[in-house]
Amino acid sequence: MLLEIQGLGMDFPQGGLFSKSTLRALNDVSLNIAAGEAVALVGESGSGKSTLAKLVAGLQMASRGEIRFNGAPRADAARDDIQMVFQNPFASLNPVHDIRHHLERPLKLYGLNKPGALKELLEKVGLDESYLTRFPHELSGGQRQRVAIARALAPKPKLLLADEPTSMLDVSSRMDILQLLGRLRKETGVGLLFVTHDLAAARWLCDRILVLYAGQVMEMAASDTLLRAPKHPYTQLLLAAATHGVSLETKLPAKPGRANTIDPTPGCPFQNRCLQALSECSHTTPTLVGSEHQVACHLESR
Ligand SMILES: Nc1ncnc2c1ncn2[C@@H]1O[C@H](COP(=O)(O)OP(=O)(O)OP(=O)(O)O)[C@@H](O)[C@H]1O
Ligand SMILES: [Mg+2]
Repeated sequence: MLLEIQGLGMDFPQGGLFSKSTLRALNDVSLNIAAGEAVALVGESGSGKSTLAKLVAGLQMASRGEIRFNGAPRADAARDDIQMVFQNPFASLNPVHDIRHHLERPLKLYGLNKPGALKELLEKVGLDESYLTRFPHELSGGQRQRVAIARALAPKPKLLLADEPTSMLDVSSRMDILQLLGRLRKETGVGLLFVTHDLAAARWLCDRILVLYAGQVMEMAASDTLLRAPKHPYTQLLLAAATHGVSLETKLPAKPGRANTIDPTPGCPFQNRCLQALSECSHTTPTLVGSEHQVACHLESR
């Protein structure tokens, strides 16, 4: 297995120095990604998607749980094996350096700077050598994101983490970058963890979709299955929001308090917004059941 995540948890202290409150950004998340597989991480803002990606990237240390890469602890993974592409390609490229600098550095660092390597790398992402002397501000958002992807691919990683790589782009660049990622998956066999708000993009690009809510896995299944027959009321709501423009908030009762502070109200984190909530939802936290199609919802065991 390329990536094995077991019981991952992440807590952040909240409310300043003298506050004892803690935000549970991730709670008991488990996920496996096979070599070459692509998994999408969806869920509304604050659900913990970026936190999960950052933990896998090794940018933050988890509070609990384990991440293994190629059968060994994450900390032992070669630095070049897991690469990340961020949301904002302007912030991730250095404005004072040209594109050559951005791409040559990782190639040199990993001893891959052979003749023709730069050209090959640019071609992979649909750019040519004329871009080498250009600076980030001379590029469109889509072109910048191509450079960021090329840089991430330079060390030939086995796993690419892409945190909303298209959300700051206009619609046509968004399609371009999605298609590029799809092509690169096929050509390089790189595994992908794709963070997105876009369910259609998730389905198009990824084999499986994992739905996070308040730092917990609500549902996980093959992309087609999840979107055709979503089981969790939250997934159903996300889908309705995407296909019929239903607001994530207006049709539902107001959300009292935060769903994922430590010592939260017992029961399902989604109970206060769930139109199908049962009495047990307010006192027992549903566990994730199923193997191919996993769901954490009391309705499932009815
Ligand atoms: N370094 C941090 N310190 C304190 N709290 C944090 C930190 N990073 C994230 N959080 C909190 O953890 C929760 C999850 O954040 P995260 O960035 O993972 O959400 P997200 O799903 O990526 O949201 P978005 O879709 O808006 O990017 C949020 O409530 C956030 O405020
Ligand atoms: Mg995020």
